[in-house]
Amino acid sequence: MNQQMRFPKGPALDRILTLELARVTERAAVAAARLRGRGDEIAADQAAVDAMRRELNMLPIHGTVVIGEGERDEAPMLYIGEEVGTKTGPKVDIALDPLEGTTIAAKNLPNALAVIAIAEEGSLLNAPDVYMAKIAIGPGYEPGLVDLDRPAAENIAAIARAKGVPVNEVTACVLDRPRHARMIEEIRATGAAIRLIGDGDVAGVIHTTSPDETGIDIYMGIGGAPEGVLAAAALRCIGGQMQGRLVINSGEQRERAIRMGVSDVDHKYDVSEMARGDVLFAATGVTDGNLLSGVKFGKRAIITHTVVMRSSSGTVRWIKAEHQDMEKFTDAL
Ligand code: FBP
Repeated sequence: MNQQMRFPKGPALDRILTLELARVTERAAVAAARLRGRGDEIAADQAAVDAMRRELNMLPIHGTVVIGEGERDEAPMLYIGEEVGTKTGPKVDIALDPLEGTTIAAKNLPNALAVIAIAEEGSLLNAPDVYMAKIAIGPGYEPGLVDLDRPAAENIAAIARAKGVPVNEVTACVLDRPRHARMIEEIRATGAAIRLIGDGDVAGVIHTTSPDETGIDIYMGIGGAPEGVLAAAALRCIGGQMQGRLVINSGEQRERAIRMGVSDVDHKYDVSEMARGDVLFAATGVTDGNLLSGVKFGKRAIITHTVVMRSSSGTVRWIKAEHQDMEKFTDAL
């Protein structure tokens, strides 16, 4: 990562941007939702990318995409390094995923999201597109209660103790992948429950912040590193603990990470190392989920559900929007 990051003391970004961000994820979510359940991941993703880029370019910012659709040679739009916005406002880093959970959107399963985070220039970890080992819990726990380097069973027991409940009342969220077979066995052996998700670990991490609503106490396992940074941005705003470590499987990946500014590829990052300073985060539901409902196409209006957050104030706003001017959304078709 860019280890020479700055630590801004107070809010650095115009707070109006927080609400402007909602429009960006709303547009991307509506565009993707028109194609949800059609079995075509690429088309749904492309529609979301086009809509998000169009909307982003209207924002009064000088933004650089640091977490995007891929490196320049593999992504024609919203690639890492692309400059977006009107280029007249503050210089900001942008992490985005216009359609987080392309497969779940294509299958119309829960928790596909359009997601974006903005922070002052140099404040977001420039994570390469490799895997990241992650652990996350919600707010209200003593610092260091869980740790990426402890056995899963120990972390589960720590959560149960801190909540004052038996271990069998703890639920862990884990991506359903063969690489997690051992960890799943270890968690089940404690008596805890597992919510296995097919995709979408940004939502998985965020779900730990409202266990009463989502039923999830802890997120564990290996997912995408870019998604790790997006989830960390949300936790910076909403509270909660998270650690992440890049999973480097080849020399090529190591070189790529170093090229992107990571000086220690084995570093265990915590939330504030992945997303520093004043961070804004927005997510709009594409499909129905535990925290956000998906886009509804009504006769007279399109309805979207969005959460926008800001780290410097800790404000979390839930926005249900009725878009009656449906014309505005047809250009995303
Ligand atoms: P996409 O939206 O790019 O399809 O990512 C979905 C996702 O499930 C992420 O949430 C997660 O971090 C990653 O893929 C896991 O990767 P893999 O599918 O290779 O295990």
